[in-house]
Amino acid sequence: MSGTSEFEKEIISKTFIEKVLHFDRLNSTNDYIRTVPEKDNVLVWTDYQTKGKGRFDRVWESEPNKNLMFSIKKIFKIRPENIFSLNFFFTYFILESILDYLCSRDSYINESDFNIKWPNDLMCNSRKFCGMLIESNIAKGEFIIGVGINVNQTQFSKEIDSRSTSLKKITGQSFELKRLLLQILIHISNNLRLLNEGELDEIFKKWNSKCKMKGNHVDYLDNGLIIQNAQVIDINKDGSIRIKNEGEIRDYFSGEIKILTN
Ligand code: BTN
Repeated sequence: MSGTSEFEKEIISKTFIEKVLHFDRLNSTNDYIRTVPEKDNVLVWTDYQTKGKGRFDRVWESEPNKNLMFSIKKIFKIRPENIFSLNFFFTYFILESILDYLCSRDSYINESDFNIKWPNDLMCNSRKFCGMLIESNIAKGEFIIGVGINVNQTQFSKEIDSRSTSLKKITGQSFELKRLLLQILIHISNNLRLLNEGELDEIFKKWNSKCKMKGNHVDYLDNGLIIQNAQVIDINKDGSIRIKNEGEIRDYFSGEIKILTN
């Protein structure tokens, strides 16, 4: 771990983060941050993860020094039934901050190519460039928001190559990881008010405006069973997805099914 750098001071002075820990290498920022004694407004980020975790116990792969991998530990006073708003909030505002950042670097992008795949994947033309793993201790109101963004990596393993992309692959440009991280944290700070003041409908509206799945036909995995060509009817405010399969309509929560179609 390095000492307090100018960058860390800049994060603390410009954002809600009060403690920053940076490592050249960690197993997983989500696992490490859990061991940090401070409970609120902590950031852990690393240049390389040896055991990066994805959703559904998958591995989050990332070449050393090329991508952003960070976790935020934060306390939220939020009713259990509204917890999915945290997911909507972080997914939407991270996407918005990435788009702002790309525009500020004069990247040529078409905003309509970018969208959210339920529940929290950021996609560009059906390829994923950012994933989030949100873990919580609901009783204590403690949340860990783990974010992986493919930034400067251009080659992926053959298992994920056809489904993955990065900001460099999208724009042809390389980006400074620290500047992007700072921009994301500032953007989250500037909008935290929405969560703190319970503007949950507003957050949902924003998230929904970037999720284009409604009406689409998808394949998904339900208890090991592949269901093909089902239709997404809606995404509900509680975070569940409403799906119609062979005439039957059902709501599924995140974690209950895995959407296979990009
Ligand atoms: C997914 O899309 O499956 C979630 C990927 C989350 C990856 C990030 S990288 C930083 C943080 N630490 C981890 O071990 N995982 C998350």
